[in-house]
Amino acid sequence: MKKQSTPSRETAPAPAAVFGRTTQLDVENPPPDLYGRPQPDRFMRAVTAFGDTYTPAMGRPLLRRSPRLPAPRARAPLSLVVTAHRAVAEGVVELRLADPSGDRLPGWQPGAHLRLTLPSGRERHYSLCGDPADRTSYRIAVRLIADGGGGSREIHQDLHLGARLTVRGPRNGFAFCGEPKLLLLAGGIGITPLLPMAREAQRRGLDWHLVHAGRSEASMPFTEELRALAAMGVPPAGSRGRVTIRTEDAGGVPTAAELLSLARPGSAVYCCGPAPMLAAVQAAFDASPATALHFERFGAAPVLDGRPFTLQLGADGERLPVPADRSALDVLRAARPDLPYSCHQGFCGTCRVQLLAGTPEHRDRRLTAEERASGALLPCVSRAAEGETLVLEV
Ligand code: FES
Repeated sequence: MKKQSTPSRETAPAPAAVFGRTTQLDVENPPPDLYGRPQPDRFMRAVTAFGDTYTPAMGRPLLRRSPRLPAPRARAPLSLVVTAHRAVAEGVVELRLADPSGDRLPGWQPGAHLRLTLPSGRERHYSLCGDPADRTSYRIAVRLIADGGGGSREIHQDLHLGARLTVRGPRNGFAFCGEPKLLLLAGGIGITPLLPMAREAQRRGLDWHLVHAGRSEASMPFTEELRALAAMGVPPAGSRGRVTIRTEDAGGVPTAAELLSLARPGSAVYCCGPAPMLAAVQAAFDASPATALHFERFGAAPVLDGRPFTLQLGADGERLPVPADRSALDVLRAARPDLPYSCHQGFCGTCRVQLLAGTPEHRDRRLTAEERASGALLPCVSRAAEGETLVLEV
């Protein structure tokens, strides 16, 4: 098996889920396309369903590990001010955040992200998409998720110039290792961590190619910036240039195999986008000429090896069935929309609830053994055995 690295923002499933899944291919009820939408393409259905089935096995220990940057030391939160807020594509705003005194900001590497505490108290993570050489401001881009938890709506509609935000980071769970040959695959707003990687690859003179796939060019941020970057260097003879902008309205949704066919032998692939895209790329990766895969997922990881169980709100409270394919957090939020969350992937701790009774399956990467023993639970990823009831103090 070839090398795959999973960053800290992406949470691998618990060991039982990694090796225990028995999903069947179901072409009559196809999985969604690379962007998580229903799709009619039979081949892509099969690829994605295959990925759902076999991706878990890819969480086994790596054969080789990429060189990683040293873990950053914890820093005090920053208090930054919004110095720019502008639309850069349909449904996407770009923000610049700076120190109110004009001080230099902590440095960062391509792939790093910030954790923002919004005025409402919501916490959200966003990849840095500016230039690491610019220490005067951080740049992030945020797509409006109309049916999300309200964080992107708050940024789009309520944040204004001069607003203050508490910012933690930068932290990097998607480190750029600078391999000589690179294929960068971005789905939608997943371009944000890959843009600084492309810039760094160009600066180092690496052999790189970036594919940005999206619904339409109008909905995709930074296309002109990418083209300008691509125009700076001379691509290798016979290559198709540095950047491919692939839009659904012009060429349909690419398959994972199609994307990976652009990798040169021995390439490292960096992929960031929605969960179905990552699952499909992971599934198709071993058949590609690439040798390493690094990825970062936006949004919730798919539920693997889920079994139906029940949540109970308080000792005598409402009982909420959790289906096998939904997270406990989703079900809880349907009943308690104010329940906070952030990463949806079991690493930030924002969704923490207190367990009063029942035996959970902890699937997070955040809680210590002591915290678990004292009843802490992260419902965005953690579950319970079939038929179990978890009684929560919420
Ligand atoms: S939302 Fe981050 S750990 Fe649950």
